[in-house]
Amino acid sequence: MIYSAIKGTGSYLPKRILTNQDLEQIVDTSDSWIRERTGIECRHLAGEKDSCTSMAVAAAKDALNASSVKLDDVDLVIVATATPDRAFPSVACHVQSALGIKKGAAFDVSAACSGFIYALTLADNAIKAGSAKTALIIGSEMISRYIDWTDRTTCILFSDGAGACILQASDTPGIITTDLGSDGDYSELLYANHPSAYPSDKCFLQMKGNEVFKKAVNTLGSLVDNLVKKQGIATESIDWLIPHQANKRIIQATAKKLGLPMDKVIMTVAQHGNTSAASIPLALDWGIKQGKVKPGQRLFLEAFGAGFTWGSALIDYH
Ligand code: ACO
Repeated sequence: MIYSAIKGTGSYLPKRILTNQDLEQIVDTSDSWIRERTGIECRHLAGEKDSCTSMAVAAAKDALNASSVKLDDVDLVIVATATPDRAFPSVACHVQSALGIKKGAAFDVSAACSGFIYALTLADNAIKAGSAKTALIIGSEMISRYIDWTDRTTCILFSDGAGACILQASDTPGIITTDLGSDGDYSELLYANHPSAYPSDKCFLQMKGNEVFKKAVNTLGSLVDNLVKKQGIATESIDWLIPHQANKRIIQATAKKLGLPMDKVIMTVAQHGNTSAASIPLALDWGIKQGKVKPGQRLFLEAFGAGFTWGSALIDYH
């Protein structure tokens, strides 16, 4: 049996930082409201030289440097993004070219904040099926392009950045199980129109935050139930919850459902904000670089986002 395992992670965050105090000057909000309701303190915004592709490439190089994997071995590139630079070709094809990768397939996955879990699942399945041996998976987002800076209900939340992960065939299980779901009936609660179909002033991100919040908490709770009841996994075996970083209160609800104390949760939402598909690989890389996430530990990744889409992954990190 072939399994897949994580061989390296990397990240890129744009240098420009927008604090809650900066936002107080832009919209009718307060640092205390944002911290209390979301846990966010600041966010990174892409500069003029950043693009979805350039951020993805920077994160990919960081992940390759952190691994013993040779660039020539990469035979699959998947980029999870809802904010590609072009309608086509994909960001993944641009990454492939920028890095000089000459073999295998490259494509993007669009599943909003759940995109990285979708990409991880596809790469894991390709490796298990024998159609790829070494996958580069990236979450890269430039959500700031879709933000209405007069809308205080959304502009305080989102952030730009990219996170990357190398997955390679392994004799021992790394990715133990993944669980994906979606329900397109909820698309009107959270969406952004695409500039190819709408004028740019109609492309701002729209969200009914409170309704998304409730559905997110319930759905993420079901992912924990699936893990325990369907997969028979004991939550005590989990060393780290590495959640999508949308809102501190959503993360606390999932940790409670798992029975994990908050010091077993990787939390980057305060400094990173919500970077959509980039948030989980950024949090994973941060946890590893901080020396919190160590080989031999078991990780539970989960995400919920526009679509609605959701997903989880149970991983033995070695
Ligand atoms: N500053 C001050 N007050 C505000 C702000 C703000 N920035 N934003 C909203 N308010 C006000 C509202 O107007 C409202 O006032 P009212 O009671 O007088 O009408 C009040 O605060 C409460 O508003 P709610 O929307 O009910 O606030 P809530 O506690 O739900 O927090 C939030 C809003 C942070 C958006 C939360 O609902 C949330 O995190 N939702 C989920 C986001 C998410 O997970 N999205 C999925 C991933 S994103 C993706 O896929 C791209």
